[in-house]
Amino acid sequence: MIVIRRAIKEDLKNVYELEKKCFKDPYPEAVLLMLYHLYPELFFIAENTGEKKIVGYASGMVRADGFGHIISICVGEEYRRRGIGRKLMEVLESAMRVSFNVCNFRLEVRVSNESAIKLYESLGYKIVSRLKSYYLDGEDGYLMIKSTC
Ligand SMILES: CC(C)(COP(=O)(O)OP(=O)(O)OC[C@H]1O[C@@H](n2cnc3c(N)ncnc32)[C@H](O)[C@@H]1OP(=O)(O)O)[C@@H](O)C(=O)NCCC(=O)NCCS
Repeated sequence: MIVIRRAIKEDLKNVYELEKKCFKDPYPEAVLLMLYHLYPELFFIAENTGEKKIVGYASGMVRADGFGHIISICVGEEYRRRGIGRKLMEVLESAMRVSFNVCNFRLEVRVSNESAIKLYESLGYKIVSRLKSYYLDGEDGYLMIKSTC
């Protein structure tokens, strides 16, 4: 069974292992730790309870302008297309709403990341601008925003 729950500090090593599998420019473990310490209520994992294995995670923060910022989301390759990514996004947005009264959300995504863009669009996010050379390898990003205010 897959459950979504708040991360605990002991999860972070395994979250980092997953992060490295999901991204070619993964966040360093220290950044994940910092995100967890700054916003523990906005750091979620998806766990396969049978194997006690972390199969996905999502993390966010609240910006000074009041926007909830989706910092990272990933689901292990063999667990994709089962609704885990969508559920993580919904739980994270809901936690931002409840804990921080957030009603505007934003995120950045590689222009080539069709699966993630489809997921975000299906949740109501819209592309508002193109961010030139946003990523380390020079690829552009899209800024996507969802407003529920
Ligand atoms: C993006 C990602 C988190 C999606 O996770 P997921 O668990 O597979 O997503 P879901 O199963 O919840 O999919 C929800 C919807 O997103 C869209 N979607 C997801 N993957 C898709 C794909 N490969 N192709 C087309 N649409 C896709 C679909 O609309 C899907 O709904 P449907 O299955 O009913 O058609 C996952 O692909 C991933 O971890 N990618 C690598 C890391 C990454 O790119 N993160 C985002 C960085 S901005």
